[in-house]
Amino acid sequence: MTAITAAGNAAELPPYPGARSGRCPFDPPAELIEGQQAPGLRRAQTSHGVPAWVATRFEDAKVVLSDTRFSADVRRFPQLTVSTQNAQGPQPFPRTDDPEHARIRRQFTGEFTVKRMEALRPSIRDLINTILDEMISREERPVDLVRHFALPVPSLAVSLLLGVPYEDHDFFQENSAVLTRRFATREEKTAASAALNDYMLQLAHRKQREPADDLVSRVLAAGELSPQEMAVNGKVLLLAGHETTANMIGLSVVALLNNPEQAARIRAVEDPKRAARAVDELLRYLTVPQDLIHRVATEDLELGGQHISAGDLVTVSLPTANRDARFDNAHVLDLERTQPSGGHLAFGYGIHQCLGQSLARIELQEALTILLRRLPDLRVAVPTDEIKFRHDMAAFGVHELPVTW
Ligand code: HEM
Repeated sequence: MTAITAAGNAAELPPYPGARSGRCPFDPPAELIEGQQAPGLRRAQTSHGVPAWVATRFEDAKVVLSDTRFSADVRRFPQLTVSTQNAQGPQPFPRTDDPEHARIRRQFTGEFTVKRMEALRPSIRDLINTILDEMISREERPVDLVRHFALPVPSLAVSLLLGVPYEDHDFFQENSAVLTRRFATREEKTAASAALNDYMLQLAHRKQREPADDLVSRVLAAGELSPQEMAVNGKVLLLAGHETTANMIGLSVVALLNNPEQAARIRAVEDPKRAARAVDELLRYLTVPQDLIHRVATEDLELGGQHISAGDLVTVSLPTANRDARFDNAHVLDLERTQPSGGHLAFGYGIHQCLGQSLARIELQEALTILLRRLPDLRVAVPTDEIKFRHDMAAFGVHELPVTW
């Protein structure tokens, strides 16, 4: 096991996020959990090849995510993006700081309120049932749950929200899926990203000419964003929810089928509050965003007794922070758990905290209950140690999940 040292040369730095190698495939790497016992940030080499400071403690994570001396504008590290984004054009708002960040985010917050998302719940439920009908009707067994269920759910849910016409769903879903596919080449990813950019720009122009009852039309009608800004940020909405939600669905299925008692709880749950509690515990326990948080220090500073220089990259191990000792029996999945005050960090913290969290919660609550109820004999068709986990990816999860019933 490689010890994570407080400092070191890039060549000898331990890799981050590293493999989830604890007692079970869901536990953060043992080195990070061990490192969490001592104060300070760790030095590691991110999967993008950039050395970074890693915060593992809950309180340190909150500082990195809320202190204005950490900037989300990481353009100085081009390795962090696969993007056809023109560096001179509008920046996606998650990569900007206030006040620019607030100017753009404000245009979308009214679209993601709990009330508005709850109003969408019946349509999301119908959508999930339709996706499941299609999966069940496939002739092959086993079926890859990732491709035929987990990925289509967030992609089609967000296209419903944005107002993407139904006939464009296949294009939308296929190109978003390429961006998360393990064996897609950089060229394929760049082409898919460019196709989505063009598509979103055309959609924005179309919604400006012929507004309808959807997010893109309403945001453009408010007059604050140009079609170009809408296109860049519409793509952000599509992609931000895609990999994260899909991997939460895939991993939750593995975790629940490995714990039949907990799966039975999800099947039986009628009370929406208990369903919500169960999903929040899955979010905490599995915490898929593992190499998604990137900040750059804007000045020399000290955190946890550690000196950080201006220009250094800083990341937060959300999976490790969510196993902090502030959670009783932190390494146990307990669907009845009430999260301690202040909650968990699976959706981040501070001004960049997940904009789509109400939507994500509804998608997960509906997807997991519908799937487990409609397929009471659902099982993973390979042993757990043969499942292809996404250890080295920005979002942890499963590359594919052969299931049968
Ligand atoms: C289980 C699913 C999801 C997880 C675990 C998740 C997690 C996160 C996290 C950790 C952040 C903070 C990133 C940072 O601080 O740098 C974030 C931001 C964001 N998320 Fe999510 N997310 C999920 C689903 C969604 C969905 C469904 C949408 C929208 C359709 C969405 C849209 C966004 C946006 C736009 C931001 C950037 C907010 C900002 O910078 O102000 N997410 N998400």
